[in-house]
Amino acid sequence: MDVAGAGGGGPPPAGLTAGVERYLLPAEPVTSVAEWQGLGGGQALEIARRLGPDSTVEEIGTAGLRGRGGAGFPTARKWAGVRASTGTHRYVVCNAAEGEPSSFKDRALLRANPYQVVEGLAVAALTIGAREAFVGIKDRFGPEVRGLTRAIEELQAAGLAGDIPITVVRGPDEYLFGEEKALLEVIEGKPPMPRLLAPFEHGLFATGSQMGWESVPREPGHGPALDVSNPTLVNNVETLAQVVHILVRGAEWFRSMGTSGSPGHAVATVVGDVVHAGVAEIDLGMRLSDLIAEVGGGARPGRQVKAAFSGISNPVVTADRLGTRLTYEDMAAIGSGLGAVGFAVYDDTACMVDVAYQYSRFLWVESCGQCPACKLGTQEITHRLGEIAACRGSEEDVAVIGARLGKVTDANRCFLGTEEQRVVSSILRAFPEEFAAHLEGDCPSPRADIVAPKLVEIAAGVATYDERHRRKRPDWTYED
Ligand SMILES: Cc1cc2nc3c(=O)[nH]c(=O)nc-3n(C[C@H](O)[C@H](O)[C@H](O)COP(=O)(O)O)c2cc1C
Ligand code: SF4
Repeated sequence: MDVAGAGGGGPPPAGLTAGVERYLLPAEPVTSVAEWQGLGGGQALEIARRLGPDSTVEEIGTAGLRGRGGAGFPTARKWAGVRASTGTHRYVVCNAAEGEPSSFKDRALLRANPYQVVEGLAVAALTIGAREAFVGIKDRFGPEVRGLTRAIEELQAAGLAGDIPITVVRGPDEYLFGEEKALLEVIEGKPPMPRLLAPFEHGLFATGSQMGWESVPREPGHGPALDVSNPTLVNNVETLAQVVHILVRGAEWFRSMGTSGSPGHAVATVVGDVVHAGVAEIDLGMRLSDLIAEVGGGARPGRQVKAAFSGISNPVVTADRLGTRLTYEDMAAIGSGLGAVGFAVYDDTACMVDVAYQYSRFLWVESCGQCPACKLGTQEITHRLGEIAACRGSEEDVAVIGARLGKVTDANRCFLGTEEQRVVSSILRAFPEEFAAHLEGDCPSPRADIVAPKLVEIAAGVATYDERHRRKRPDWTYED
């Protein structure tokens, strides 16, 4: 089984299209520019130069690539939008922050082949006319930072990384670091608190005002009458890697995999109540139940899968929906989402009230507090979920949670409050009998190990979660 971190080797998961090789996660890691060139490295940038920006964007659009950072936004539309935005300076950013619970795919990709990611970044920079490129990555991702830095240096020395500077910015551990507007703040040397406007409207080092009047020194290089919004393109690690393969092998090749709405492969993560945790390259369109069986080894002996979550951003997938295909359209059709294709699985021993509490607590702690509805709402919901989980709750707690969930998204700068609303309300709707049992003073399945699965490592089939997060306070300090 092609499970990164679980030993590798063996046949690929059945979810891979027969006869189509893995292109994102090679069997052996690519560790030098020479190896990358041996696999066709360098060709995508050359093709992008030959095609020019319009045809490059068109090819990616024909391929139907959708961003792999979680939202699934069509990549070509984003690139075309940044190209069409007015601004004298443009920037491009690779999002390697990977903060979504139950996702390890970006780290797996960077370990397997950082060269494809850097080349994808160079293609993006060339296509949108960026003057500079950045990679935002967590400081604690040591091996990935080293691999990425080496890949940039080697590709630049070989003349295969375009002719603009590429800077690796090591960022903090906060969940919001991966949110694109917060990512830009970190690259500018500030805390990970989302700015108001989107990167294409108010990009890196932009000195135009976001709201009303702002006194900001003008970024050098702008004339007095020139636009200062600096449209910036932000793409996920995997999205940029995909671009390289699409340009070299063509849009039709990409469309020969996956489904018409969700073409290509994806790198999936499976953790939680499974036989082994894993990361694997899969064909989109594979059933979630097959992913759990083939990448996670299935439910633990004698147990049944009760629920699965795609990260902490999408509503719960209940047992009766596990046959859903892993595509953007199929996951949306069941009221959930594909996200970053990183799944946490829970079996029939898990307390779903505790899951709701732990997920809500994660979002409350990670909320930056710029928007009162988000910080105060996640706080109140978490507190009351905690009371119910401890069998001390009342009907009033349920009513207040419902009311708060309706307002937790009000006037928010980013999607975090919506994540709270989607995840917690879906658990309330799907498992009313578990809430009722708690209100009557009984937790049918108490367990001490439920956490929001913020991943530190997946090795030899074992997922390690960030234990420190249990001690993280909502002001981002830690208890001793
Ligand atoms: C709270 C929050 C956290 C996020 N964390 C990540 C992350 O760690 N990595 C990532 O690529 N995208 C993350 N995103 C999504 C990014 O904001 C953005 O949509 C993405 O990087 C765009 O890349 P794509 O178009 O290639 O998918 C996050 C979004 C939110 C709201
Ligand atoms: S919605 Fe929440 S996390 Fe996002 S900017 Fe506002 S307070 Fe911060």
